[in-house]
Amino acid sequence: MAASEAETERLGSALAETLPGGTVVALIGTLGAGKTRLVQAFAAAHGVPREAATSPTFVLVNEYQGRLPIYHFDAYRLRDDDEFIELGPEEYFESNGVTFVEWADRVERCLPREYVEIRCEAVGETSRRFTLSRIGNATNNIVEEVRRRLA
Ligand SMILES: Nc1ncnc2c1ncn2[C@@H]1O[C@H](COP(=O)(O)OP(=O)(O)O)[C@@H](O)[C@H]1O
Ligand SMILES: [Mg+2]
Repeated sequence: MAASEAETERLGSALAETLPGGTVVALIGTLGAGKTRLVQAFAAAHGVPREAATSPTFVLVNEYQGRLPIYHFDAYRLRDDDEFIELGPEEYFESNGVTFVEWADRVERCLPREYVEIRCEAVGETSRRFTLSRIGNATNNIVEEVRRRLA
């Protein structure tokens, strides 16, 4: 899926309409790829003010109250898996909220069995490619549903 910034906003809305509570979203991509921007779009669609959703690079996990709680991790500054585990991610993963993990590839072994992976790539100044896949053998087809909403 390629997107302008407005399309990233649409993808965030489509995800907000689709992802049930308890979903974990692994965001993978380099700096500036649009990971934080996509979480902001998702949170905005949940009624969270834009200013409230910022990159948790320093605080490590942010919480926003949308229609569901939204948890936002960023593994960029973590030294190793243990540092991530100390934040107690399991509790968030098992909660009824939607949990996003930026730089999820750095803590891949700590992710739950089932999650949604979104690969983010900058392909131009304002265009981004977001590639969604379902990891694990969940029965609900979230990726199809998001695609349908965007069509
Ligand atoms: N289509 C787009 N989608 C998302 N961000 C975009 C897009 N076009 C331009 N940008 C800009 O790219 C930057 C992405 O930054 P950010 O979301 O913080 O990246 P990351 O969290 O992946 O490091 C922002 O400055 C944003 O305004
Ligand atoms: Mg970020």
